[in-house]
Amino acid sequence: GTPDTRTPTGAATGVPPSAKGQQGAYLTTAQGARLRDTDHSLKAGPRGPVLLQDHHLREKITHFDHERIPERVVHARGAGAHGVFTGYGSAEGVTKAGFLAKGKETPVFVRFSTVLGSRGSADTVRDTRGFATKFYTDEGTFDLVANNIPVFFIQDAIKFPDIIHAGKPHPDREIPQAQSAHDTFWDFVSLHTEAQHHTMWNMSDRAVPRSYRMMEGFGVHTFRLVNAAGETVLVKFHWKPKLGVHSLTWEEAQMLGGTDPDFHRRDLYDAIEAGAFPEWELGIQVFPDTPEETFNGIDLLDPTKIVPEELAPVQPVGRLVLNRTPTNFFAEVEQVAFHPGHLPPGIDVTNDPLLQGRLFSYVDTQLTRLGGPNFAQIPINRPHAPVNDMLRDGFHQHAVHAGVAPYRPNSLDGGNPFPAGVDDGAFVDVPVTVAEAPKVRANPVSFDDHFSQARLFWLSMSPVEKEHIIRAYTFELGKCYHQAIRERQLQCLANIDPVLCAEVATGLGLSAPQPTVPLADVAPSPALSQVGGEWPAD
Ligand code: HEM
Repeated sequence: GTPDTRTPTGAATGVPPSAKGQQGAYLTTAQGARLRDTDHSLKAGPRGPVLLQDHHLREKITHFDHERIPERVVHARGAGAHGVFTGYGSAEGVTKAGFLAKGKETPVFVRFSTVLGSRGSADTVRDTRGFATKFYTDEGTFDLVANNIPVFFIQDAIKFPDIIHAGKPHPDREIPQAQSAHDTFWDFVSLHTEAQHHTMWNMSDRAVPRSYRMMEGFGVHTFRLVNAAGETVLVKFHWKPKLGVHSLTWEEAQMLGGTDPDFHRRDLYDAIEAGAFPEWELGIQVFPDTPEETFNGIDLLDPTKIVPEELAPVQPVGRLVLNRTPTNFFAEVEQVAFHPGHLPPGIDVTNDPLLQGRLFSYVDTQLTRLGGPNFAQIPINRPHAPVNDMLRDGFHQHAVHAGVAPYRPNSLDGGNPFPAGVDDGAFVDVPVTVAEAPKVRANPVSFDDHFSQARLFWLSMSPVEKEHIIRAYTFELGKCYHQAIRERQLQCLANIDPVLCAEVATGLGLSAPQPTVPLADVAPSPALSQVGGEWPAD
């Protein structure tokens, strides 16, 4: 193959030699000039003013003044770890992705996060958690940018700025931090009722994990897999923690928020340092790739819907072990840049309109967050596969590209990079037929069902989980200043379940409204309960 013309990746160790911050035995300036004193400014006499000519002073302070980069617009608070993924080979029939082959080991970096809080916010808040995995595969980087909740608030990425504006602190008071207990959040979810399913998960124990090691992860969207024969299936990705799914009670979370706001970060670091390596199995739910893109009547392009595991069991395809803590938080956890479009051959996207918008958003935000177009060269973001792109120059360019002709084909730098046969192993977009249809700003009709799966989730809970959900809605809605918002959210609860609605209404001192839509006829799904086994009599 064509050689990588960029700086060495240092892939095997994860820390390239060129990225080591300290070399040699002596303290130096950034230019390598040896220093003898870093504690005293250069002055006109011990009591005199400081001299502008003090290069060391100015370099040290100027660099410090520019140490901060913008925090992520969402998922700002995070913790990460390195590990290894081992394929089981069980997915070979449905995907040609090499990292899933039997016994194949691939280095990974995982970043866990909360969504709404700022970088310094507490870990144990009621929120969705991010679970983003970078697989450094031989065929290019695969990012599985997942959450610990299997559905999302909205169905179309065009509403993402709106739901996040509604969830972030109020623009006037900048409160609350990382909690959903406020007017704009409840205003949004009661008006945009497709958010009711995700909101129910947020009001459940799932939104207060005991540990990152005890969380499930979900790709949320449906993806398309393609095998060596070009056959396709639709899948949903799941991470299943070896330790099981466990939560903090609300009271525990409140205490920990005060006594140890770094509880989850500390737990992850301490567990790995102690050799108690966290483990997950990666699994897929597999659906036939039919033109309707539905399964058992569930629209697979609707990110507010799950497919219950009784209908499509999660089939294990590999194992993840986290076995190494970061050396430097900024270099690894802060600078890592995930993107749902980083896919290896064998995994492709679908037309889920939320996923389609995400494909634009991540690289766009990282251009600002990481200071220009060359952030793929930051050590943590470098692929472990050889890179030979035609991207050139730009801010923070670290590569010294060889050659004169960054275009293909060319007759100056060594010919045609696509000779016959050489693109075996290339990423090829699945040639899905795009329906001939009028251009519209509209959703499929199936996206109009906003309450049935919230009801499914509620009915699947054990009595103690239901009790926690009732208390969470009552507490959070009790924080709203606007009565009309509380009442509108109660109407949504009435459309989900009369018992839930009545209990929360009683807690708020309000009367329970009647449903405005027929209650969905759904059966409980045992896999949704953390307790399991004991279905309530109602
Ligand atoms: C982070 C956008 C939906 C999971 C981010 C970031 C943006 C973003 C801009 C910050 C990235 C960075 O600064 O590097 C969006 C948009 C969405 C969306 C526009 C919908 C339209 C989702 C969904 C999931 C998800 C559905 C889960 C399946 C994550 C995770 C991170 C993240 C885990 C943190 C990545 C990290 O640890 O660095 N998202 N997101 N997002 N998003 Fe999304």
